[in-house]
Amino acid sequence: MIVFDHEKCVKCGKCIADCGTGVIEFAQDGYPEVADMAGCLHCQHCFAVCPAGAVSYNSVSANEVEGVDGIADTAALEKLMKSRRSVRHYQKKDVPWDVLQRLASTLAYTPTGCNDHKLKLIFVTGEKTEEFRKKTNQILLKIMHSPLGWLMPKRYKRFFKRIEEGEDVIYRGAPAFIVVAVHKKSPCRTEDPLIALTWFELLANSMGLGCCWCGFAQRAFQKFSSLSRMLALGKDYQVGSVILFGYPDVKYHRCIKPENFETTIL
Ligand SMILES: Cc1cc2nc3c(=O)[nH]c(=O)nc-3n(C[C@H](O)[C@H](O)[C@H](O)COP(=O)(O)O)c2cc1C
Repeated sequence: MIVFDHEKCVKCGKCIADCGTGVIEFAQDGYPEVADMAGCLHCQHCFAVCPAGAVSYNSVSANEVEGVDGIADTAALEKLMKSRRSVRHYQKKDVPWDVLQRLASTLAYTPTGCNDHKLKLIFVTGEKTEEFRKKTNQILLKIMHSPLGWLMPKRYKRFFKRIEEGEDVIYRGAPAFIVVAVHKKSPCRTEDPLIALTWFELLANSMGLGCCWCGFAQRAFQKFSSLSRMLALGKDYQVGSVILFGYPDVKYHRCIKPENFETTIL
């Protein structure tokens, strides 16, 4: 619910100008009002843009949230982006609850298509990680020993052999992983989980954690319902993306030198 405090509102119209769906209008009395609540994206732009702090959203008023002072340090962000590597060796150390909570609460700020905001974050930690590891390997080894296994290309057979030898090829010995699930009807169900986890990777790295995107686990969750059921997502949700994380047991001493992407400036 959006409320315009007439005591504070200076009728500048900034809330109207910045509304992405154009649902705010000046009412007869000259103050803004939401003319079509059903069309509101609940993005809170009106709340954030109001210079007078006259807008409240769901009973939260302007003085209850953080202010915006300056912008992030580009050099620090660039360094983080350049120095981040996929981590495949982890310390046997749990990630504390307060760290998980900080990650989760910051991810609430990720953009989602149409501000649909219907992601679920599932942190799998500690003993639970072991359960998933065991179940995934069980499923994969069963496939390997079925007639399907014989028909597999050589590279897959090599991969399965490593699992059989006890190597944690899927979860890389990570003490934790995060699954982002998305509502099956979300307008941007492909993009939203990827954006959330892209933010997660950067934020986690800034907190001293290492991460590795896990396409293998993502596919396994999407393909094997006996595995995804362990996430208890509910029937309306599907697995989007997965990232392994924990404190790294490897140190990278320098950034790499990748080829630039083909870039065109028109
Ligand atoms: C969508 C996606 C899925 C990935 N899946 C896996 C995976 O299942 N296992 C793995 O070890 N690495 C995985 N990676 C990591 C990539 O192999 C890695 O990002 C790439 O080799 C570049 O290395 P860097 O991340 O250290 O720069 C994945 C990366 C992305 C972006």
